[in-house]
Amino acid sequence: MNDLAGKVAVVTGGGRGIGAATAQKLAGLGAAVAVVDLAETVVAKEISKSGGRAIAVSCDVTDPDAVDSMVDTVADEFGSVDILVNNAGIIRDDLLFKMSVENWDAVISTHLRGGFLCAKAAQRYMVEQKWGRIVNLSSTSALGSRGQANYSAAKAGIQGFTKTLAVELGRYGITANAVAPGFIETEMTRSVAERTGIDFDVMKAAAEKEIAVRRVGRPEDVANVIAFLAGEESSYVTGQIIYVSGSAD
Ligand SMILES: NC(=O)c1ccc[n+]([C@@H]2O[C@H](COP(=O)([O-])OP(=O)(O)OC[C@H]3O[C@@H](n4cnc5c(N)ncnc54)[C@H](O)[C@@H]3O)[C@@H](O)[C@H]2O)c1
Repeated sequence: MNDLAGKVAVVTGGGRGIGAATAQKLAGLGAAVAVVDLAETVVAKEISKSGGRAIAVSCDVTDPDAVDSMVDTVADEFGSVDILVNNAGIIRDDLLFKMSVENWDAVISTHLRGGFLCAKAAQRYMVEQKWGRIVNLSSTSALGSRGQANYSAAKAGIQGFTKTLAVELGRYGITANAVAPGFIETEMTRSVAERTGIDFDVMKAAAEKEIAVRRVGRPEDVANVIAFLAGEESSYVTGQIIYVSGSAD
């Protein structure tokens, strides 16, 4: 299913969590993968060790020059850029009355400016070759989430951004879709537990009661959907937001 042999994928925030699982999944399907993160991690080495093709590229996705040079480095190394997964993200939660301007700007910038810069840089190659797949990470928080005015605005913004990319780029054989995960067990959700002083297992148990399939998500649950959207078999799916939350909403 969904053979990605010969394809080249860029996964931002690929150093851990959902990004790492996605990099592993795409590499397992045959893609050459650029694991892009603020600092180099073991993910690319692990993929290479298990017989896949991967490089680690350090890049801050909010820096325009760094993003352009990251995408060119990937194209030089692997010959093209076919798949972009805009996954890099941060949270800086606070209730509205306490939220600092810095924390508003940091979250909006990482998700929206970062996704914009990476898509703009990658489409140079995708348009030229008349094939591309862009998958952006939204969230169930896009629908409103206490303490996350910055993050929910960013994740809702990503949905509009995704639909516009679909409208503009479809004629060039490029699809753009978003996945919107619910509660996925990663360092990001673990950090919420730590910050709020709640035991992570207690937090997960409480969340599970509200989730239809009665478990929290694993990074692989999201990676599986991204892999579908990254392949040939999803060529007639674009501008969609797919919730990966184990629930009906
Ligand atoms: N974990 C969840 O429950 C959940 C739910 C919905 C959406 N998401 C989204 O999925 C994505 C991945 O989340 P995760 O839980 O794996 O997070 P994570 O914190 O475990 O990993 C995020 C990665 O992004 C990298 N990153 C942050 N800022 C960057 C920047 N400026 N440039 C390059 N890399 C940067 C980090 O270094 C880190 O490796 C994020 O966009 C997040 O908002 C997560």
